[in-house]
Amino acid sequence: TNTDLHRAKTLIASIPDYPEPGVNFRDISPLLADGAAMRAVTEALIAPFEGQFDIVGGLEARGFLFAGTIAAMTGVGILPIRKAGKLPRPAAAVSYSLEYGTATIEGPDVLKEGERVLLVDDILATGGTLTAAQALVKELGADVIGSAVVLELEALDGRSLTGDVHTVFTD
Ligand code: PRP
Ligand code: HPA
Repeated sequence: TNTDLHRAKTLIASIPDYPEPGVNFRDISPLLADGAAMRAVTEALIAPFEGQFDIVGGLEARGFLFAGTIAAMTGVGILPIRKAGKLPRPAAAVSYSLEYGTATIEGPDVLKEGERVLLVDDILATGGTLTAAQALVKELGADVIGSAVVLELEALDGRSLTGDVHTVFTD
């Protein structure tokens, strides 16, 4: 319900100076613990894309949680987009830059050509992770029909990298 969705936003905590001084870290643990809030957030993530995707791609690790709820509520499957070195048979890999250094994500060979993928993550910060995931899905031969996140940290301007993203909450 709308009440649950409004309450959901209050369940995202801000932790100053984690993991390092100057960073205001958003902690979604209280939201994850609340069933009604999770249902409302999941419905809000899905709403613009209802009936438009064949599989949901979740970004390790917290994106997996919402990929799971979206999959269960819509009856589609899940594409796990993993940090490098976790998949026994990675079919594609994309590297991207972090504040310090680089990271790589990988995906398995489970997509059919032209399959419609909805990407989901918990937080959009600089946009590097989500942009890499969009490229990864293309390398895997499928189509990204949309990207959705629970919380966008607007000040970091992630969408200048990602392009259009559906965000449930902005901060
Ligand atoms: C966090 C978050 C997003 C990403 C956002 O994941 O869950 O995936 O960072 O940052 P960006 O927009 O600047 O790329 P993290 O790498 O901390 O991993 P976790 O989910 O395993 O905790
Ligand atoms: N919280 C959780 N994950 C994140 C954040 C944050 O504030 N920034 C980048 N990834």
